[in-house]
Amino acid sequence: MRGQPEPGASGSQIYAASGCIACHGEDRKGSSRGPSLHDLSGNWSQPDLAAYLASPSTWIEQDPRMQKLDQSYNASMPAFDNLSEAERTRLAAWLQLGRSASSSE
Ligand code: HEC
Repeated sequence: MRGQPEPGASGSQIYAASGCIACHGEDRKGSSRGPSLHDLSGNWSQPDLAAYLASPSTWIEQDPRMQKLDQSYNASMPAFDNLSEAERTRLAAWLQLGRSASSSE
């Protein structure tokens, strides 16, 4: 389920290729395995979000909100350190658009 995106893939393509859908859902509204990703911009700057994707455990250690969130799910957010920094930045930018971004863009 965790493939490598094509070079130049858009944020939504990286989301699909990386298997985020398995836990966060096709429309990012969440599932029993992961929270909704619809309203991230209140909690995340884009650079922080891009860094988080490579090392979620760093945030769980530092941020009480993330600790709570982690405890509410059986699974934990995997580290996507297989993605390049450019890919994580594109993915973070798309995630921050929230639910207004179309999933087919
Ligand atoms: C195995 C299930 C799983 C997969 C796959 C997964 N996540 Fe997560 N994700 C979680 C869980 C569970 C959390 C809650 C925090 C924790 O437990 O670590 C989370 C948290 C997050 C958060 C923080 C949400 C917030 O409220 O701040 C973001 C952003 C996120 N995931 C994005 C992604 C992206 C993008 C992908 C694909 C590259 C992905 N996740 C793949 C399970 C998953």
